[in-house]
Amino acid sequence: METLLVKASDEQLVKAAEYLADGEVVAVPTETVYGLAANAFETDAVRKIFAAKGRPQDNPLILHIGNLDMLYSITDEVSELALKLAADFWPGPLTMIFSRKDSVPSETCGGLDTAAVRMPDNDFTRRLIEKCGFPLAAPSANTSGLPSPTSADHVFSDMNGKIPMIVDGGECSCGVESTVICFDNGKIRVLRPGAVTPEMLCEYAEVIVDNGVLKQLSADEKVMSPGMKYKHYSPDADVFIVKGTNEQFACYINSLDESEKKAVLWDGTDFSDSVTVLPYGKTSAEQAENLFSSLRKADELGCDKVYVKMPDTSGIGLAVYNRLLRAAGFRIIEL
Ligand code: TXA
Ligand code: MG
Repeated sequence: METLLVKASDEQLVKAAEYLADGEVVAVPTETVYGLAANAFETDAVRKIFAAKGRPQDNPLILHIGNLDMLYSITDEVSELALKLAADFWPGPLTMIFSRKDSVPSETCGGLDTAAVRMPDNDFTRRLIEKCGFPLAAPSANTSGLPSPTSADHVFSDMNGKIPMIVDGGECSCGVESTVICFDNGKIRVLRPGAVTPEMLCEYAEVIVDNGVLKQLSADEKVMSPGMKYKHYSPDADVFIVKGTNEQFACYINSLDESEKKAVLWDGTDFSDSVTVLPYGKTSAEQAENLFSSLRKADELGCDKVYVKMPDTSGIGLAVYNRLLRAAGFRIIEL
């Protein structure tokens, strides 16, 4: 199949809507990462998403809505708390889990009786959803297991030949996927951290950060969100999180075998020629924005190893750390 890579425009919006109405898959920009979108209400269209990504069938998709009315086509149980959060954080990087109506195909939700919903903060994509008139099911537009795509080029490298159209809306400003929450007896349970942080959410209700966020779950452990149990965000290179001061970090990197092709993600100075320093950033927001594209860059450069300075874990830093732990297979080097 030929894959069109086009810039977001009114003309391309019409074309994308036609593909989606025909049950095809189109990659679209959002503020977090690019999404691989199809009609959430059509089982055959949704199956094409799973096929293009190579995604396990039991890992549910997020339904993207263009306005609040659309939420009621997915669920008829919306609490006061959920409405308050929607008013304050939508459009934006917050995904909420609701009970789902029978009209939502089970395939979209990985066989669960709940549906994850968010309203993306991207004008093109929201207008596209409104034009379609149905919610778009959209996981991140990467091949399953690889780092999520934060540019249309990343999507093209994973999806060329597999889907008919990729809409380029520029680089994603957030860089990590949305915060996923569910409601637990009036409390908010964070299943995946993102730019809407626990610190922000605790203004609304008691917040529990689920065990799966920072812990490696054993095979028999019950997971609240199926995405938690899969290998994720991993480039081909081996990733290591390195904990220590900047001096210790520099010293450690300099002590490594020179023949090993390595990259580092940190905000310090350059090393000798044998080490590639990739963009990371000083603030957690910058690190979130750069993380996935730097991990992809390490593979493009043919690096065998990537060493990442342990991030600060407050605010959006928790999301950076959560993604890094998975990219690194939970390997931490303590100096
Ligand atoms: O920012 C984002 O959320 C991006 C953009 C495209 O919107 N999407 C995204 O989708 O990251 P995906 O499929 O890569 O991640 C969705 C996560 C998975 O961990 C999945 O298990 C969880 O949300 N999820 C979806 N539906 C769920 C449900 N009903 N119950 C529990 N977890 C759910
Ligand atoms: Mg994903």
